[in-house]
Amino acid sequence: MQETTLRGHYRIIQNLGRGGFSETYLAKDIDLPGNPYCVVKLLKPMFMQHPQALETAARLFEREAQVLYRLGSHNQIPRLLAHFEENQEFYLVQEYVSGTVLSKEFVSGEKWTQNQAREFLQDVLQILEFVHKENVIHRDIKPANLIRRHLDNKIVLIDFGAVKEITNMIENSQGATRIGTRGFMPNEQENGNTQFNSDIFALGMTCIQGLTRVPSETLPRSPEITWNKQGINPQFAAILEKMICNDYRQRYQSVNEVLFALNKLEQASNHKSWWQNKKAMVGLLSAVVILPIAWKLTNNYANIDTQNNSPTNLPISTGLNNSQNTATYENQSYNVKINYPENWLKNDVGDKTTGELARFSLLSSNSNTTNTSSNNDSPVELILEIQNFDKPVTLEELTNLRVNEITQFFTDAKIHESHFTKLKNAPDISAHEVIYSGKDDKTDVKRKAVWLVKNNKAYIITYSAPERNYDTYLTTADAMINSLKLH
Ligand SMILES: Nc1ncnc2c1ncn2[C@@H]1O[C@H](COP(=O)(O)OP(=O)(O)O)[C@@H](O)[C@H]1O
Ligand SMILES: [Mg+2]
Repeated sequence: MQETTLRGHYRIIQNLGRGGFSETYLAKDIDLPGNPYCVVKLLKPMFMQHPQALETAARLFEREAQVLYRLGSHNQIPRLLAHFEENQEFYLVQEYVSGTVLSKEFVSGEKWTQNQAREFLQDVLQILEFVHKENVIHRDIKPANLIRRHLDNKIVLIDFGAVKEITNMIENSQGATRIGTRGFMPNEQENGNTQFNSDIFALGMTCIQGLTRVPSETLPRSPEITWNKQGINPQFAAILEKMICNDYRQRYQSVNEVLFALNKLEQASNHKSWWQNKKAMVGLLSAVVILPIAWKLTNNYANIDTQNNSPTNLPISTGLNNSQNTATYENQSYNVKINYPENWLKNDVGDKTTGELARFSLLSSNSNTTNTSSNNDSPVELILEIQNFDKPVTLEELTNLRVNEITQFFTDAKIHESHFTKLKNAPDISAHEVIYSGKDDKTDVKRKAVWLVKNNKAYIITYSAPERNYDTYLTTADAMINSLKLH
């Protein structure tokens, strides 16, 4: 399968998983600008000697694909991009989600705190609320089918129906039926009587594994499931308990019931901590005192590059010395302007193939921090790039593309922050900011990238510095980033 290109679009890159009747691959859509990643799922109905069975499978496949297209409109379910049949095999192409599957997080990460567990539940429950409203039962909620998205740390639910419905048909024809995974599957589902709240059971079991890290299939199941509740708030434990009752009639009947119970618990604890937690009060008081001071300080910097009509010769603070002159870089063909300190070196690259327009580097003789750095250290620099698209892209699509690139191609990439932002000189355009670190040729590097989209063009600014110097030049970099003007 490797090196195969399907339909002239999807170049297979690597295998992501293999089930009984399906294979999952990471692929690139070579027909789209930027060649975004996608996931290709191949359903392999090996049983189909009978033309009639193939026909039924094709019908089922078509029906399931329609459901998946609908479900994909939820932000935390991968969009289905295409579905097709080739050589009696069925293919689904879905959006690639850059993130970590919980089954991996459970091996390497720390046990969840109660707050993390509650946030997880609330996050997945609102996806399930949507799924159930669409009349779909997932049937296989478990850590391997939940991805924590790098972009915003939200949970994405994967591995829906189509394969399961079709494999189910196959298994039925062979006299057996079981969809789901041991350890996460409730009794009624095992007995072929799946309910909407079978998903609530599986979610509860997943959450308990997140809290305890004890494999679900090892928990004693009779008369009820026994798990270690030590250190867990009894009311929160009671909610989990009700999610995983063996008898589905004793369980929460709907996602809304669980959400309601969680919200009630949260309100009760907020109310308590507001009045009783002195630490919170002290913290709040200091915020009231400190925030206006911090705001004033940052505003002193912010005023520098926004309030003057002539952008040249404005001081930008480096955080080292306060009086530096600035110059302006302007690119007429892309209608873009940015200010930079005069003592940074401007390299007007204007590279049409890579999209890099200009690179501003701190001259090393300038660097007061070089006592620890050597000549072959990564530079402190800011890069302005442009990416052209044939058709309009949304900020969200661009963000997915960029974040995928970071996590795929930057060694040991770790995303620290990812959120929307606005630039001071382009206040009408939404932008996205990502702070990340990784290794650049063995040096630990930290970066802040900000991007925005206008008229089929993406403007991307990346500030990069060796990790230990990152904070020193951050104020300068922020002033440069905020001075970006599109006209
Ligand atoms: N949309 C996606 N984005 C990123 N990774 C995915 C996506 N879909 C699947 N994967 C990865 O591939 C693995 C297998 O995919 P899945 O749909 O769960 O198939 P199955 O469990 O039937 O083999 C997942 O555990 C996950 O690691
Ligand atoms: Mg799976």
